Amino acid sequence: MQTVVVNLGVRSYPVYIGHEILPRLGGLVKSTGAEDIVALVTVPVVRGLYGKAAEGTLLKEGIKPEVLEVPDGEAAKTPEVFMEVVGRLLGLNAGRGALIISLGGGCVGDLAGFVAATYMRGVNLMHVPTTLLAQVDSSVGGKVAINHPNAKNLIGTVYQPRLVLADTALLKTLPPREVGCGMAELIKCGAMLDYRLLESLESDRDDLLRLDGARLEEIVSTAVRLKAGVVAGDELDYGSRMLLNFGHTIGHAIEAATAYEGYSHGEAIAVGMVAEAKVSRALGFMSEKEVERLEGLISAYGLPVHVSGVTPESIMQLIAHDKKVKSGRWRISLPKRLGEGTVIEDPSREAVLSAIREVVGD
Ligand code: NAD
Ligand code: GLY
Repeated sequence: MQTVVVNLGVRSYPVYIGHEILPRLGGLVKSTGAEDIVALVTVPVVRGLYGKAAEGTLLKEGIKPEVLEVPDGEAAKTPEVFMEVVGRLLGLNAGRGALIISLGGGCVGDLAGFVAATYMRGVNLMHVPTTLLAQVDSSVGGKVAINHPNAKNLIGTVYQPRLVLADTALLKTLPPREVGCGMAELIKCGAMLDYRLLESLESDRDDLLRLDGARLEEIVSTAVRLKAGVVAGDELDYGSRMLLNFGHTIGHAIEAATAYEGYSHGEAIAVGMVAEAKVSRALGFMSEKEVERLEGLISAYGLPVHVSGVTPESIMQLIAHDKKVKSGRWRISLPKRLGEGTVIEDPSREAVLSAIREVVGD
């Protein structure tokens, strides 16, 4: 097992990463002195697979969790489900010492985290991420949110957990498409922060796609260490944390342009990374060879490098709208070279549009 500490002063916390470490959850919860309600927030699929094991480790320590089941996927991140979970906590007389544990992917983590951040102005939170995306990205760093009907992740805050326990053995049941989503975030991390991670993703592809325990533990720990470093430097996302957004400016617009159907988040980010790498090339940073190498790696993990059924102009409009709503500024995060990212203010619109044109089509 590896431990990565997210260094945030009094709000620092450990992320435990290992193969078959779920049985340690009960002991870890016990050691925090939980005396109030312990609520395990999860979705039916994950409860069916790992609910018993998670409950069992808590029961072994004399802790009886209340299991709160929420709908799967984005359907968990609605104001209605948020109110329902809050209502359940209230009905259980959960107080300020309550502990909320998310058991599931990024959706359940974002919802449970937002409940924990707001119920009684904040109660204890732990994440047990069960998707690769959640283990390498969403469970670390404290971003929590629910969706507004018109905008994803609009209602949220930054609220750090007490700990994260990432058991890579839980990934063995993950559908291949979900594995791909996590791989897209890993490629992002390598392209922006760590050339050696990118090389490992190239050389160890077969082991990683076979979900080999030792390789997964290594690669998840590397990604968590990198993300922890970025979060420690800019917890509230006013500057360098934007480096984690490579592929997301164009990727989010692709998701919106396709009405969140057809392309998963990871797939949209994959195409977004290809397009943004082309922007980097147009701005004189990445070489053509590097762009091709990144594209090859994305393809090697079964992720798309083109998008169909949208027009380049519609994607441009969505980017402009998103920027207007969120920051009023055009900023794009991209690699200057593979392994070293930067944030560009006001990139040339022509360069962006022409890069988008290159990824639209079959
Ligand atoms: P998800 O939570 O919807 O999980 C994907 C699917 O996998 C679901 O159907 C789920 O039931 C299933 N599943 C989960 N674990 C499983 C397992 N071990 N075996 C079999 N099936 C399993 O999706 P996700 O990709 O984990 O998360 C996406 C969400 O994360 C989005 O809402 C996104 O906005 C958010 N996100 C948040 C952050 C952040 O920093 N907070 C970062 C990235 C993404
Ligand atoms: N997933 C991007 C971030 O945590 O900032």
